[in-house]
Amino acid sequence: MNTPHTPHTPSPGSAGKGLTVTSPGNYPPIEVERPHLPYARMLMGDLASSRSEMTAINQYLYQDWVVSAQDAEFARVLRRIAQVEMRHLDILGRLIVLLGGDPRCQALPGNRRSAWSGSFVEYAGAIPAMLQSDIRSEQFARNTYLSQANQVQDAKLSAVLRKLAADEDVHVNVFRHFLDQYQQEGPQGR
Ligand SMILES: [Fe+2]
Repeated sequence: MNTPHTPHTPSPGSAGKGLTVTSPGNYPPIEVERPHLPYARMLMGDLASSRSEMTAINQYLYQDWVVSAQDAEFARVLRRIAQVEMRHLDILGRLIVLLGGDPRCQALPGNRRSAWSGSFVEYAGAIPAMLQSDIRSEQFARNTYLSQANQVQDAKLSAVLRKLAADEDVHVNVFRHFLDQYQQEGPQGR
């Protein structure tokens, strides 16, 4: 399980501690051109819906806890990606305030029944199933952020959303890298 190995793909980086879990370049300033409540409402879904940063953070922490004895390297990467998702959550909360919203942990403003729930997490038992679920989540997040970046008439907000999408794209590749290894070599190869 802790056997050193060579990654099958050079991107996004080498295996282990050096694996890259963020996109290149700095984050743009966390700013918007002007308050706009419809955009704040849109970002609430990214913050706390069933397919949100809150769900990603909890899903990756759960996976880290349950796989750490089985695959320490995957567990470490999950923890580092969870930390990136927490940064995303933090950025979304700040943007919602700048847009005039109230970043409570719920998908719809003013609707307590839309509060985030631990039932949103996909509690997969086996690592390949976890990875497939994680890849789907990251693809959804990347596509959502890109679609929102194209949709908003706010260049500053759009720049931040593109950066979040770029990070999620890196995560897709990181999880694909691990899934490739499991599919080609099985757990013994890791
Ligand atoms: Fe991600």
